[in-house]
Amino acid sequence: MTKIFAHRGSAGTHPENTMIAFWEAERAGADGIELDVQLSKDGQIVVIHDETIDRTTDGTGWVKDFTYRELQQFNAAYKFADQYDVCRIPLLEEVLAWIRSTPLLLNIELKNGFIAYETLEQKVIDMIQRYQLEERTVLSSFNHNSMVFCRHLAPNIETAILYMEPLYDPWKYVRAIGADGLHPYHRTVSEPFVRQARNHRVAVRPFTINKEPLMQKMFRYGVDAIFTDYPLKAKKVRQNKKT
Ligand code: G3P
Ligand code: MG
Repeated sequence: MTKIFAHRGSAGTHPENTMIAFWEAERAGADGIELDVQLSKDGQIVVIHDETIDRTTDGTGWVKDFTYRELQQFNAAYKFADQYDVCRIPLLEEVLAWIRSTPLLLNIELKNGFIAYETLEQKVIDMIQRYQLEERTVLSSFNHNSMVFCRHLAPNIETAILYMEPLYDPWKYVRAIGADGLHPYHRTVSEPFVRQARNHRVAVRPFTINKEPLMQKMFRYGVDAIFTDYPLKAKKVRQNKKT
């Protein structure tokens, strides 16, 4: 059965990449969560999507220019101010400490496409190992070199490559760089594509699947998982897919 990953937590209904969004994913019955990580100025792994804090908090500036303590002064839920209390940008460690007590799967997307964050891979892997979450974690990035490096550092942790445009022979490419799965933009995904991926034993998890007809299509294709901002809706669509 196609798994449902709550994208940035449950970003459609809750402030993205915050603890309340992750708790909501569990409450909604998602199979897993996806989150994005970067490094603060003092080298802490923080959970945030953009390289700056401008869009998702009430502050402004680059994530890399603030220490973790400084980042704590900003409200990561300010867009939902009428619905939720102040939320802080979480540390990856907080999420891992919590997720251990749940059955959820975890996709950690390394946001190292524009900013290199030299020690990000090692730090993320150390943290996964500290919490013994190797078996239910998939690492991913649009930076494929980073996935090669992760595989080198931790051969037992699953890796996947993110991409927007169609790739030539993705099954060969993904194996050539030593990764396990494809996380494609959904428009590059067709039924024959999914069939071929299955034949090559390569996992396919498209993003970001928010509209009901698109959910139905992806479930019909039998992709391994979807990333969605609306895990509760996706669960309902998955239950009804044969009706
Ligand atoms: O990992 C799937 C998806 O999160 C990739 O795109 O920009 O939402 O991080 P983005
Ligand atoms: Mg992401």
